[in-house]
Amino acid sequence: MDLSVTIGRTTMPNPVGVASGTFGYGSEYEQLIDVDSIGALYTKAVTRAARPGNEIPRIVETTAGLLNSIGLANVGQERFVTEKYPSLRERACTVIVNVAGDVEDDYVETVEFLEEHAPLSGYELNVSCPNVKAGGLAIGTNPELVEHVTTRVRSVTERPVIVKLTPNVTDPAEIARAAEAGGADAISCMNTLVGMAIDVKNLRTVLPGKTGGLSGPAVRPIGVALAYRVSRAVEIPLIGIGGIDGPDAALQYLLAGAVAVQVGTANFVDPTVTGRTIDGIRTFMQEHNLQRVGEIASLLR
Ligand SMILES: Cc1cc2nc3c(=O)[nH]c(=O)nc-3n(C[C@H](O)[C@H](O)[C@H](O)COP(=O)(O)O)c2cc1C
Repeated sequence: MDLSVTIGRTTMPNPVGVASGTFGYGSEYEQLIDVDSIGALYTKAVTRAARPGNEIPRIVETTAGLLNSIGLANVGQERFVTEKYPSLRERACTVIVNVAGDVEDDYVETVEFLEEHAPLSGYELNVSCPNVKAGGLAIGTNPELVEHVTTRVRSVTERPVIVKLTPNVTDPAEIARAAEAGGADAISCMNTLVGMAIDVKNLRTVLPGKTGGLSGPAVRPIGVALAYRVSRAVEIPLIGIGGIDGPDAALQYLLAGAVAVQVGTANFVDPTVTGRTIDGIRTFMQEHNLQRVGEIASLLR
């Protein structure tokens, strides 16, 4: 059986990746699982300058999910090269660097910098983070801006460029088409949904920044519906994300039309979730007599 998935010039050994911001840079999980057995590791966002992130608390549990307001806390591109790249380059799995910024130039400069100092398997552009007031949200909600930033990043790298969509827009399919027009190799969908939790006893929002991004099983049906819709709106492959916590959820995405998936919040609950998910997909393929993982989508009636 062939579980591999090809995105641009990169081939992932299997379709189950770990989502940006929920798996650090891999080393954090080394004591718990065989990190090299996952299909693709999407790093925590890397930005030009280091970011301390938002005021705490940054995370609040909700029904079947969580709200986060991390604020893209990360070491910045220079320390990424010296502190994170050496272990990432040794990984057997595909490593995709998640890149974020406030303005278009940030994305282009970070990708150019990484091309020179820390080339890995490819880039995922986080144009969709709802926690950054300027930049992220503005770019990811506007098709012209998405096409423009994708075109510019495309011009500085031949590695796969994956554009990660926000669900916080009227029509994510329109944004996906813009990324495709800009030369993206794939779409990843979706980032978190804007949400708010209020502490009724203390009469204030739980998160100091008021809103956060909702993730986890609570958002899965939204993600599956988007995978179904967006994968039919573009020719490039779609990587499904949102509330995946095991084989059943991953298979829903693959049946909906995603070529691969990312597991996010569920890593916090059960770090072995990726292994279970890969095994479950293999079993499903055996039961349905499939040779290639890409055949799963054709089973949906
Ligand atoms: C704590 C936390 C941090 C995150 N940080 C990032 C990030 O840096 N870049 C990014 O593109 N997405 C980030 N995300 C979004 C996830 O990659 C994923 O798109 C989202 O959580 C939905 O998947 P899930 O329901 O499986 O968690 C973060 C999510 C969480 C929960």
